[in-house]
Amino acid sequence: MSAKKRIRIAFGLAAVGALTIGLAACSTGDSGDGGGDGDDVTTVGFVAVGPEGAWREANEQNIQDTFTEEAGYDLKYAPATNLDQKSQIDAFTSFVDEGVDVILLSATEASGWEDSLKRAQEAEIPVILLDRGIEPDDDSLYVTRIAPDNVEVAKEVGTWAAATFPDGGNYVVLEGPAGVGVVNERNTGFDEGLGDSSLTKLDAQTANWSAEEGKSVFETMLKSSNNDIQLVFAQNDEMGLGAAQAAEEAGLVVGEDVKIATIDGTKNAMQALADGQLSYVHEYNPLFGETALEVVEKALAGEDVDSYIVVPSEAFDSAEAAQAVLADRKY
Ligand code: AHR
Repeated sequence: MSAKKRIRIAFGLAAVGALTIGLAACSTGDSGDGGGDGDDVTTVGFVAVGPEGAWREANEQNIQDTFTEEAGYDLKYAPATNLDQKSQIDAFTSFVDEGVDVILLSATEASGWEDSLKRAQEAEIPVILLDRGIEPDDDSLYVTRIAPDNVEVAKEVGTWAAATFPDGGNYVVLEGPAGVGVVNERNTGFDEGLGDSSLTKLDAQTANWSAEEGKSVFETMLKSSNNDIQLVFAQNDEMGLGAAQAAEEAGLVVGEDVKIATIDGTKNAMQALADGQLSYVHEYNPLFGETALEVVEKALAGEDVDSYIVVPSEAFDSAEAAQAVLADRKY
C-alpha cells in the first residue's frame, strides 16, 4: 500500500453544514451555488487527458459509458488540447463558472492545481481525481483520488525483477513524461521492490508513453551499452512494446537476452506477453467508472469518502498467465 494513509475525509462541521445545504439545494434543482440544470440531472464536468494511448482510451471511454443520461447524468467531456495543462485549467474554470454539480479531474500535470481546486471548493463543487494525483498533495482540496496504487503496482514489478535477476544485471527505465505524478510514484515503488537487489541502473529516460519513442530511446540505450542491458522497466505498455521492437532489431531475444516489464495490461501488451515479446505485465486497471459513480453519489450526499480509493490490479508474469485472460480482456 502506498505511504499515503487512507483517511476518511471528515468535512469540518461548518463545512459539512454549508456543503450539505448547498448540495441539498442542488439535488432539488433550485441550486444555490451548485449546478444542476434540471431537477434530476447531475451535471459532471470531466476534465480529461484525451488521446494518449490505449490505457487512456479505455479509461475515458469507461467513464463516459458510466455517466450516461439514462443513469441521470449530463457528463461534459473536456479532453486536453495536445496534453496541455492550460487547456485543462481553462475547462476546469469553465465548469466552476457554469456551476456543475461535480468535477472529475485526470491531470496532465501533477502541479499547478491549487488555485483551481480552491475555486471549486469556494463554489462548493466537489472534485474527484481520477488516476493522476496532484503535487503538493493537499487532500483537503479534493474529495478523493480513485486509481490503482502506483507505488504498490511498481513495487511488485521491482520485486519480480529482483527475484528474476538474483545475480544482478543492468537495467534501464523508460518513464512517462516529466511532471506527471504517476512517474515519480512508479519510480518510488520500483526502487522499493528492488530492495537490495544487485541489479544496476544504467539509464532512465522519458519516452512519453509512446511506442515509437520507446523504440528509439531503447535503441540508443542499447547502442551506448553495447547491448549489455538485461532488463527494461517500461512505465507503460506502449513504451515496453517499442523497446521489444528495438530489442528484436538489435538481434536480441526478449526473455533470453533481455526481459521487458510494463505497466497497464492493455490488450496489445497481454498478447505480446502471451507471444513472449514481453516478460511481465502489471495491470493498472482503467475500468473504474462504476466506482467513480458511487463516489460521486456519496460526495453529493455529503457522506464521508476515503481520500484514496485503490482500484485492484493484478500482475501477469508468464505467457500462460496472459493466455488465460486474453479472451475475456475488456481493454
Ligand atoms: O496515468 C496512467 C498512465 O497514463 C498509464 O500508465 C499510461 O499508459 C497513460 O498514458
